[in-house]
Amino acid sequence: MISPSAEVAARLHAAFDVIEAGADPVLKPSDRADLQANGALPLAKRLGRDAREVAAEVLERLDLAGICDQVELSGPGFINLTFADSYLAEQLAAMARDARLGIGRAEHPETIVVDYSAPNVAKEMHVGHLRTTVIGDCLVRILDFLGHDVRRQNHIGDWGTPFGMLIEHLIDVGEKEAAHELSVGDLNRFYQAARASFEANEDFRNRSRRRVVLLQSGDPETRRLWRLLVDESVRYFDVVYEKLGVLLTDDDIVGESFYNPMLPDVVSDLAAKGLLIEHEGAKCVFPAGFTNRKGEPLPLIVQKSDGGYGYAATDLAAIRDRVNRIGATRLLYVVGTPQSQHLQMCFAVARMAGWLPDNVSAVHVGFGNVLGPDGRMLKTRSGESVKLVDLLDEAIQRAASAILSRGEEESGGARHIAGEGEPALSSVARMVGIGAVKYADLSTDRTRDYVFDWDRMLAFEGNTGPYLQYAHARICSIFRRGKESFDRGAPSAIPIPPKLGHPQERALGIALLRLVDVLDETIATYSPHKLSTYLYSLATTFTDFYEHCRVLVDDEVLRRSRLLLSELTARVLALGLGLLGIEAPERM
Ligand code: ARG
Repeated sequence: MISPSAEVAARLHAAFDVIEAGADPVLKPSDRADLQANGALPLAKRLGRDAREVAAEVLERLDLAGICDQVELSGPGFINLTFADSYLAEQLAAMARDARLGIGRAEHPETIVVDYSAPNVAKEMHVGHLRTTVIGDCLVRILDFLGHDVRRQNHIGDWGTPFGMLIEHLIDVGEKEAAHELSVGDLNRFYQAARASFEANEDFRNRSRRRVVLLQSGDPETRRLWRLLVDESVRYFDVVYEKLGVLLTDDDIVGESFYNPMLPDVVSDLAAKGLLIEHEGAKCVFPAGFTNRKGEPLPLIVQKSDGGYGYAATDLAAIRDRVNRIGATRLLYVVGTPQSQHLQMCFAVARMAGWLPDNVSAVHVGFGNVLGPDGRMLKTRSGESVKLVDLLDEAIQRAASAILSRGEEESGGARHIAGEGEPALSSVARMVGIGAVKYADLSTDRTRDYVFDWDRMLAFEGNTGPYLQYAHARICSIFRRGKESFDRGAPSAIPIPPKLGHPQERALGIALLRLVDVLDETIATYSPHKLSTYLYSLATTFTDFYEHCRVLVDDEVLRRSRLLLSELTARVLALGLGLLGIEAPERM
């Protein structure tokens, strides 16, 4: 489907084109009409003509028959446009008939690699990993829904010099004991203890260094111990993913170690292309346009002076693998903003080397920090970084008490949560708690920092996960009361063009029809907050409708019409929340 505003925009473009090819109609929402096109003003200026005259000429050529029933010239040359109710109603019926709510599949599906989550073996997952995991999951869901071939890549940190020390520590602790510590999520303790031995003990340091060499050379026993570390950590990551409800599976893990055998090739290829420059003993590439504070060219270090390969070499190998083996035409990296320069330099070097052809785009989808109430990086009271898993457990607990106390407020304590056939409190609390954490993250512009605030994210009012879930559940309850039902993943059973006589019905209809554009806008900049903002405004528009227009009225035609608007709202909310990775319970 194409949205009403996109339809009007296309026809305006055609009319403006006749006067000047490619002229922008400058279409905006308006409080005077549904839309206002202001493009005649800048166009008239360019042509040295009168703006009203230009606008009148556009109107002569503008064909909006059946789409707008009022098209007026106003002021110095504005064009005010009002949709015909009959057109809106037909579009809404078409949306209702479609299980996908009018969202088409991409005309040219792409193979899109999404690199996200990427925690490090034997290291705790923290709130930074929350952001990449949740944002990446949302983008994967939307791109997949739009019909692309999405390849999730979990680039876990499972290789490098720290593994010498980690393996030696594993040997000291004993395999069984170490495996236990790691699988129950005592990753920080394990890592820190290894570090402490490394710092305090000369012999341990030497053992660690020898162990790195053994690991690099493929010594079987060393590999076995390394595998143990990786497997136990992955088992723990899986617990967190399961709790979070994200799509990542073990099949998506393509860690740094995977690229290790390809690194010599990366270096020799760069050398053959004449791109490698020795700089302070290291082999580097200097991509154009990157300089340090002093204005000197900045190197991307591919091989260190001791012969070891760095993080950059691995990312270069990953780009080659993703383009050549996977056949990706788009690479997305959901990685924190501090790694922006590293990624941009990798992209630039890959382009220089011809590994990233022009028809393949590479995008860093960066994000800001999660802050504590003091405005600094979120920390525990004792000053440690917050364990992601603890945060999620706390969210579920807090959601359970928020739901309980809210139930008491509403019914003077008489409300019971889990009646027969109703979901248990624990399952709703999980959906609400995890949903609240995800929504708080996804509803802020990803490039900005945000303050982690339990009370705000768990509130049932305002732009929050619980508010949207509640709006959805409330519509489900209207249907239950009316002894009606709908299936949120299927075409509507009542796809009649709804009546839009009341301003609130009409406003709700227009809001619903924006969905298709909102998904495009969201994915154009990889900004989940655009979808969140839309869902929130849809929910408030519905509340306004519900206050003014009774749904379960006796008049059968009006009842069906309002049920359809309600059903569509619930389906859009469920779909939208689902694309954010948030569940929408039918009762709360
Ligand atoms: N493991 C890294 C970290 O925790 C993130 C890796 C991001 N992905 C990449 N291809 N560099 O910071």
